[in-house]
Amino acid sequence: MKDWDAAAMDWSSQLTAGYDRVREEYNWPAFEAMIGLVTGLEVVDLGCGDGDVTRRLARSGATVTGIDPSEQMIAVARALTQSGDIHYEVVPQEAPFAGLPNSSTDLVVSFMGVMSMRDLTPIAVGAARVLRPGGRLALALLHPCFSHSGMAWRKNNDGSILLELSRYATVSDVPGSITFQTTRENDGSSFAVSRQERTLSSVLTPFLSENLHLTSFEEPQPSAEAVETNRHLRRWRDVAPAFLHLEFKR
Ligand SMILES: C[S@@+](CC[C@H](N)C(=O)[O-])C[C@H]1O[C@@H](n2cnc3c(N)ncnc32)[C@H](O)[C@@H]1O
Repeated sequence: MKDWDAAAMDWSSQLTAGYDRVREEYNWPAFEAMIGLVTGLEVVDLGCGDGDVTRRLARSGATVTGIDPSEQMIAVARALTQSGDIHYEVVPQEAPFAGLPNSSTDLVVSFMGVMSMRDLTPIAVGAARVLRPGGRLALALLHPCFSHSGMAWRKNNDGSILLELSRYATVSDVPGSITFQTTRENDGSSFAVSRQERTLSSVLTPFLSENLHLTSFEEPQPSAEAVETNRHLRRWRDVAPAFLHLEFKR
C-alpha cells in the first residue's frame, strides 16, 4: 500500500482542484447514471481513497462506509469529511471486507479501484458475502481492451486519431504502473502507482464465479456537450471508450 500512501496528498489535491476533467465530465456522470438513485441505501465504497466518491454518494442521500487499505488515504478522507452519514475504515489489502457483517449492504461501489487490486477473488467473495440478497456491486475501471500499456494513441497525417494495439492477451499478472500529473502542472511533476492489467474475462470471471449476476455492462462515451467543451474527450467518443462500467446483482 506504500504507493497509495505516498500518493495520497497529490491524488487528493488533484481531485479537489477539479483537475481531473475526464472524471468530472465523462467517467463520473456515466457511473452515477448506471447506479441510479442511492437515497436511503447503505453503501460500501471499496477503495474509497480520499473519499471523493464516498462524499458524493452521501450527498445523494446514502449512508456510506468508505474502506481502503491506505492509512494515508483514509487520513485525508477523514480530514475532508464532515458528514455524519459517512464512516471510514482502514482495511486489510488482501481481505478488505473482513470487518463487515454478512448481508449488511445494499450497494458496493468501487470507482477506479480495480486496477489497484492485486487479486479480484477476495473482492468478489467479500462483496457477495456483505451484499443483501438483491444488493448490487458497481465497478468503474479503465477499459481492459482500450486503456492498457499494450496500446498507444497515434495521430494520422490527416490529423485523425488512431489507437494502435501491440498486444492484449498477454496483459496479465505482473503489475505495471500508471503515472498521473500533479496539480503542480507547470513544473511537470507526477506520481506513479502500481497498476494490475487484466483481460476482460479475468475481470469478469471472479465475480461470475461467486454467482453475482451481471446486470449492466456499459462502455460509456463522453456526451456530445462534453466533447464540445473538452476536445480531449473526442477520442473516447470517436475511437474507443476509456472506461468499463459493470454492475452485478446478488
Ligand atoms: C485510483 S484510487 C481511487 C480512489 C477513489 N475510489 C476515487 O475514485 O477517488 C484507488 C484506491 O484503491 C485502493 N486499493 C488498493 N488496493 C486495494 C484493495 N485490495 N482493496 C481495496 N482498495 C484498494 C488504493 O489505496 C486507492 O485509494
